[in-house]
Formats: sequence, C-alpha cells, structure tokens
Amino acid sequence: MLNWNPALKNRSLLRLSDFTDAEMLDLVELAIALKARRKAGVRGELLHRKHVALIFEKSSTRTRNSASIAIRDEGGDAEYLTKNDIHLGAKESVKDTARVLGRIFDGILFRGFAQKTVETLKAYSGVPVWNGLTDDCHPTQILADLMTMKETFGRLKGLRVAYVGDGRNNVANSLMVGCAKAGIDYVNCTPAELTPEKALVDAAVAVAAANGSTVTVCNDPKQGVKGANVLYTDVWVSMGEEAQKEVRLKLLRPYQVNMDLVAATGNQGGELIFLHCLPAFHDHETTVSAESGALEVTDDVFESDFSKVFIEAENRMHTIKALYVSAIGDPAKS
Ligand code: CP
Ligand code: NVA
Repeated sequence: MLNWNPALKNRSLLRLSDFTDAEMLDLVELAIALKARRKAGVRGELLHRKHVALIFEKSSTRTRNSASIAIRDEGGDAEYLTKNDIHLGAKESVKDTARVLGRIFDGILFRGFAQKTVETLKAYSGVPVWNGLTDDCHPTQILADLMTMKETFGRLKGLRVAYVGDGRNNVANSLMVGCAKAGIDYVNCTPAELTPEKALVDAAVAVAAANGSTVTVCNDPKQGVKGANVLYTDVWVSMGEEAQKEVRLKLLRPYQVNMDLVAATGNQGGELIFLHCLPAFHDHETTVSAESGALEVTDDVFESDFSKVFIEAENRMHTIKALYVSAIGDPAKS
C-alpha cells in the first residue's frame, strides 16, 4: 500500500522552493517506494487514463524517457512535443498554448530555455506543470540526486556535497537549494566568474541554517572538497551556452574531477560517491568531447565503483513518477 502526502495533489514544480522541505523529502520517499514497486514487477493503475504533454525545446535522453515511461508504467500516456511540432511561442503565444493544452492534458512537463515559459504554462493551463530543466534550474534532477544519496547512505541530513564546476548553471542552482532543504552541507567549488547569484546563495544559506547545515562558495577545489561524501559535477557548457565554450574551458580546467580531487576529499575508500546529472564528457567518444577536449570528469572517476551515475539516471524515472502520482494519481488505486 502506497501512501503519499495529500498536500501534493495538483501541485506544480517550477523550482524546488515551491515545496516545503518536508514535501520535497516526502517525494524522495515516495520515489523510493515506487522503485521497489516497479522492481517487484508491479505495473499498476495509479495514473490510469491520465495524459501528460511533454514539451521539449532542448534535447534530452533521461528526462524525456523518464517522463514517458513513468506515466505508462501506471496506466497513463504521454505526448512528446518539440518546438517544431506545436506553435508554441511562434504562431501561438505560450499563454494560449497553455490554455489549449490544459483542456486536453492532466499535466505538462516542460524543458526549455526561459523560466518565464514554464511559469506562463503554469499560470494559464490550470493543470500541474513540472520543470524538466530551464536555463535557471533543474529541480526534477535534484529529486533523483537526493534519492540516490538516500539510497546509498541511508540518510541525507549531515552529508556533505561538493559541487565542482560551472557554479551558476541550472543544476548547480537547484542542487544548492535541494541540499539546503535536506540539511546537507553544500560547497560550490567554482571560479569567481561563475559564482551563483547572490540572492540565490543568500536564500539557500538561510534555508540551510534553519536545517542545521551550511552553504558555501569556494574558489579552491582541493580545499572545497575536503570531507565531501558526494562529489558532483556537470558539463562546463550547458545547452544554449555554446558561444561561451572557449572561455569556459579556460576557466574550468582546474576544476576537473579527477583522482587527485577524489583523494583531496579525504574520504576515498570511505563514504564517498561520485554523481553527475549526465550527459557527461569523460572520454573522447562523443563528437563534442572529441572536438573540444573538454572533460569535466576523468574516465577513471566516471567508471569507478563509487560512481553512481547510472543509478542516479534511473532514479530520474522514479522521481518523475513520484511527482505525477502525488499530483494527479488516484490514491484509491494504490
Ligand atoms: N540529466 C538530464 O536531464 O539528462 P537529459 O538531458 O538526457 O534529460
Ligand atoms: N547543465 C546542463 C544539464 C543537462 C542535463 C545543461 O543545461 O545542458
């Protein structure tokens, strides 16, 4: 029997601060229960005849497939819509698109550029809207990251997460908030030029303090990763920022996650995992990594036994399912 927090009914997720700390942690627990349910072979009816629209302006492997399969697993369906499939923002305003889709679908998951787009979808669709990544944040990713940490360590409060790399991208922004809400010590190791917005850091510091933890920004990666239980990195050039490539490579080379940095945690062989939202440049097997030489993580770290990146990727599905089930699922079917 699955239980979920009734306060999450019809709720959207545009950024992690939309949820209370307890609600965010409830979602992580629900995802863990849903994972066990799937592993036990149950394909239920929690989302029977529910339909979600998946609007994608940017590419995706994990988010798109997680969002499709999560609803089908529980008896619902998804429609994948790229910018080229619908009139969004070109021949029809986002506001009008929202009003149309809200009458057809039970929920909308959006991936794209502007945070304003996902906000407008929520304001006018009348159905729950989930942010599957914008330029500003990536909240559904962080639910999966917290889930992976909880599964690995059995706890969240008191852990120490060191994010190393582009400190002001969507993943870093949301990870900072998610850690603060979970009472995790968070250190963002990034060059001064890539420091996150002050208002975001100040807000996260306050949330962390209320949960007995800390949020800090540190320009020295070897110093910053000391005592880390989780080493986390992301690409140096996010989707839509390709023009910044040369500058970023120069700035971020000293922030590569390699075995020296792993040793600098002081936790090698102990309570330490490596996480990456993926896709990752860790070898020269992709056209982009081969051409730029940019590797935010070395292959030995990526392929190590403490790397949990593929469990983390799988957990995207369970956490998106938790969002669907809690917002539009039928408790009577549980
Ligand atoms: N981590 C993540 O969002 O991956 P995709 O871009 O493949 O969805
Ligand atoms: N920061 C990356 C995350 C990809 C999942 C990007 O926006 O491209």
